[in-house]
Amino acid sequence: MESLDDGRVAARVKDVKLSGIRVIFDLAAKMPDVVRLEAGEPDFNTPTHICDAAEKAMREGRTHYTTSRGIPELRAAIAAKVRKENGIDADPEEEIVVTAGGSCAVYLAIQTVIEEGDEVLIPDPSWPHYEACVKLAGGRPLTYTLKEELDFSFDIEEIEGLITDRTKMIIVATPSNPTGGVIPLKDLKALADVAIKHNILILSDEVYEKMVYDGVKHYSIASLAEMKNRCITVNSFSKTYAMTGWRLGYAIAPKDIAADMAKLNLFVNSCPSSVSQEAGLAALTGPQDAVEKMLEEYSRRRHVIVDGLRRIEGFRINPPKGAFYAFPRISDLNYSSWDLCMHLLKEGRVATVPGAAFGAHGEGYIRISYANSVEKIKMALSRIEETLAKVRR
Ligand SMILES: Cc1ncc(COP(=O)(O)O)c(C=O)c1O
Repeated sequence: MESLDDGRVAARVKDVKLSGIRVIFDLAAKMPDVVRLEAGEPDFNTPTHICDAAEKAMREGRTHYTTSRGIPELRAAIAAKVRKENGIDADPEEEIVVTAGGSCAVYLAIQTVIEEGDEVLIPDPSWPHYEACVKLAGGRPLTYTLKEELDFSFDIEEIEGLITDRTKMIIVATPSNPTGGVIPLKDLKALADVAIKHNILILSDEVYEKMVYDGVKHYSIASLAEMKNRCITVNSFSKTYAMTGWRLGYAIAPKDIAADMAKLNLFVNSCPSSVSQEAGLAALTGPQDAVEKMLEEYSRRRHVIVDGLRRIEGFRINPPKGAFYAFPRISDLNYSSWDLCMHLLKEGRVATVPGAAFGAHGEGYIRISYANSVEKIKMALSRIEETLAKVRR
């Protein structure tokens, strides 16, 4: 029988693969008693004062469409935040676009600047969203390697060697999903020099900016000399304020790009949720102690997971400097990353994500999110240990 969807779904959409994270998520959701360490989202609830502000806004009738760039008060608060914390001087009227999460900011940025056949350099391994967005825009994703021996930073010579006259954009994510790596300032400076020399745009994804450990500092490449006008910086409320379900993020972009991103935002979403924007305003302008507490807790969990993994034969890991992911090397075990994750899920009832889901250079690793309680992390560690011990017997 002829398949119903033959030819009905556009080839460019068919061409985009479902993310491996989602594959594991869907399998784990159907199984009982699984420790869920596959998802990249905080287990905390949104701080109460943020929810209160949203409730107040709703009750006061701030429930209408807003401008497609986002409410002026929120853009002003974002401008103050990025000036103080990121060293980026952004005009709230013309250089900030509020979006439905960082995901939408990445989508809009890529749709806005990428032409058919343009090449975009993407880190490997990295969040699968970039490749999908580039393909949907008709661009050609090419990858550069994040190397474990460089603490999951890049080799600038490799990047420069990939540049052609079709290279339009380089994507950088710091701290990184899935590796937890934080790109050091010297590497960002080298990348900035390359971007200036070859006249290339940078898309800098900084949604994990607050999650940095061991005294490591996060830097925004847009704050470097001559870079503001060639950078699109993406940020989000999802991770910092435990607001994944509110769908709120933003982009800082040069005026011309921001204007067209705002135009596209209109066609995709009309505007970001008015209530979420009010919540975001409270998040940025209110007390930050809840964020501090969450960060302390991530730091504690990071020690638990790193120490635990180091005790399990076959796993190798250096403490990740950022985000909330452990990305241990598993190549000493006799499994591909998919086979190991499926085995851990089916036999051990622990959900993790194969490194290969993040690109060819993710093979030999798995991603374990430690955005979960210490109790659950410890349970997962002992299940992993037991499951692997059975295989070795
Ligand atoms: C690297 C990275 N960037 C951006 C996002 C987008 O998050 P959101 O759309 O919830 O802001 C994610 C989510 O997992 C991510 O891992």
